[in-house]
Amino acid sequence: MMARKTYIIANWKMNFTPGEASLYLHRLADKIPAMRNVQVVLAPSLISLQTLSLQINRRQFKLAAQNFYWRDYGAYTGEVSVSQIRGFVDYAIVGHSERRYVFNESDKDIAQKVAAAIRNGLTPVLCIGETATERRNGETNSAIYSQLLGGLSEVSEEDINKVIIAYEPVWAISSNKNARPANPSDIAEAQRVIRHQIAKLYGEAVALDIPILYGGSVSKDTAAGYLDIAGIDGLLIGGASLIADSFCAIVESAKGKYNER
Ligand code: 13P
Repeated sequence: MMARKTYIIANWKMNFTPGEASLYLHRLADKIPAMRNVQVVLAPSLISLQTLSLQINRRQFKLAAQNFYWRDYGAYTGEVSVSQIRGFVDYAIVGHSERRYVFNESDKDIAQKVAAAIRNGLTPVLCIGETATERRNGETNSAIYSQLLGGLSEVSEEDINKVIIAYEPVWAISSNKNARPANPSDIAEAQRVIRHQIAKLYGEAVALDIPILYGGSVSKDTAAGYLDIAGIDGLLIGGASLIADSFCAIVESAKGKYNER
């Protein structure tokens, strides 16, 4: 298989004021080179997107939205549409477990957001993953299947190559009580299940090609090991992306993968 691009996506969640985000970006920009094979994507709060989009070197970093509303415009007080932010970002995180479980987003909402991102020329990063209870009950694969089926329900065969999947088991996300990092074997199995389902929906070639990322308690010490899992094309990072040294070390691990090839 052709070596694919590696994605390192920083999800800053609800952290940093625009001023802090801007200073932090300066620090990262000094340490992270522009790379051909490694795409570094930063997902700040919506409020920081415009400032950072003026500041970034787009060969070095791309930006992602953490959230948006799926309609393009209209009377939706308090919401921000993807068509309003499309000039600032290239990627959009959709279906994050914090959106699903804290804000009750349904698979239908998520499907509409995936479609809105594609309609507006952005790459959706569709997050899926089972809860601790689902895993305990042996429902991991069915949770993955139903979130994929739901989240991709509006995506045509023509557009599926614009989608990135992020496998983030909810029990491994550091903000959850009793979070623990996933084992590489669990992740390898999940990516196999995801590709199997994609093959059923869109065919083998698409299944081989679609980028699948892992997220959940990734640290500078575990990143290289996760990146070595066959079929894992990158990482979605929360906590460790807020600390410059950790995040830069994770990016180095991704870069090292290519130097070794
Ligand atoms: P942590 O890396 O803090 O576990 O967060 C993962 C995540 O939710 C990224 O979207």
